[in-house]
Amino acid sequence: MAERPYVVASAAMSVDGCLDDTTPERLLLSDAADFDRVDEVRSGCDAILVGAETIRRDNPRLVVRSDLRRQARLESGRPADPVKVTLTASGELDPGARFFAAGESDKVVYAAGGSAGTARERLGDVATVVDGGDPLDLEVVLADLRRRGVRRLLVEGGGRVHTAFLTAGFVDELHLVVAPFFVGDADAPRFVGDGAFPYHPGHPMRLADVRRIGDLAFLRYVLAADHYWLAEAIEESRRCPVSPSAYSVGAVLVDVEGREISRGYSREADPRDHAEEAVLAKVADDDPRLRTATLYSTLEPCSARASRPRPCAELVIAAGIPRVVIAWREPDLFVDCHGVEDLRAVGVEVVEKPELASEARSVNAHLFRTA
Ligand SMILES: NC(=O)c1ccc[n+]([C@@H]2O[C@H](COP(=O)([O-])OP(=O)(O)OC[C@H]3O[C@@H](n4cnc5c(N)ncnc54)[C@H](OP(=O)(O)O)[C@@H]3O)[C@@H](O)[C@H]2O)c1
Ligand SMILES: [Zn+2]
Repeated sequence: MAERPYVVASAAMSVDGCLDDTTPERLLLSDAADFDRVDEVRSGCDAILVGAETIRRDNPRLVVRSDLRRQARLESGRPADPVKVTLTASGELDPGARFFAAGESDKVVYAAGGSAGTARERLGDVATVVDGGDPLDLEVVLADLRRRGVRRLLVEGGGRVHTAFLTAGFVDELHLVVAPFFVGDADAPRFVGDGAFPYHPGHPMRLADVRRIGDLAFLRYVLAADHYWLAEAIEESRRCPVSPSAYSVGAVLVDVEGREISRGYSREADPRDHAEEAVLAKVADDDPRLRTATLYSTLEPCSARASRPRPCAELVIAAGIPRVVIAWREPDLFVDCHGVEDLRAVGVEVVEKPELASEARSVNAHLFRTA
């Protein structure tokens, strides 16, 4: 698919999987400490998305609450609040809702084709209304958000939205908070409805973190994150100045919370630069994030090179990076590479994603053309 934002889905639910009860008041599933955690996650995102029903039922503000975090966002050149995004097929949204009235950010409404005109008449003064396809197509929505500069999107529910994003395979990580009680009502909204989820007993999610917040349990699952970041590295590789005698490689360095640290590509600043060097040049040697980071590279890090004294596998080990994800192994075109073996020998976890190998290789098609 086209480039899209990194997607974090977040929900709080009862032990029996409910997002709310059936009373008109919103059911509180979090405590102050958890709201603060969500505020931190929000402040790290470029946009927040909720379904139209959540706006109608909860009338949420969806802003960053902490003044310090708002200030930090402004200082880093971002608006104090993330962009607010919603989806609707009916177009039935109240322009006076807090979603539109609160905060200083842009608001974007993706309306299914048939309702885009009505939605624009009703909401045109308070939001940008975009035709999201008929029926609404999440791929169109995500590609459009990326074009608007959204690189990290927080999906905050409700259940229909979570079901749509998860079944489509567009969630890179999932944050779940489990409250210590039952709702016990089949009519209450659930975290997800029925659907063909790509994560099932034969293909489970990876549990990346478990935290206790009072009597709440916070669970952080990693879903499509490796695929997402490696696809970003492939995009980066397309920026390389082409060379007849060297690979075009892209790399992205990502912290343990799934946030980008840096990215780079071969020959970025100097004709001898490898992508891994370009990435590492943008991080201080003693940056503590390196010790838990993952390096995504389209090609196996080199184990020997003529242009500089230290091969990239050695640089990765020296930087203390514990995990490397690659799309393809270096073919025996220029040198016999054993970067993967060198990394594994010292305990670095190396994950290969062969499903992205042909795309990474296609950026280097010029090297394989026979005269
Ligand atoms: N505990 C939590 O973390 C949490 C977070 C958020 C919400 N909630 C709760 O969740 C409940 C609402 O959940 P919900 O599942 O009923 O609604 P929802 O997912 O918030 O919104 C569903 C609505 O969004 C629009 N929509 C969503 N996906 C669409 C798609 N693929 N194509 C077109 N339109 C789409 C439609 O709007 P139209 O009807 O306008 O066509 C649809 O009816 C509320 O009770 C709220 O309190 C809980
Ligand atoms: Zn190298």
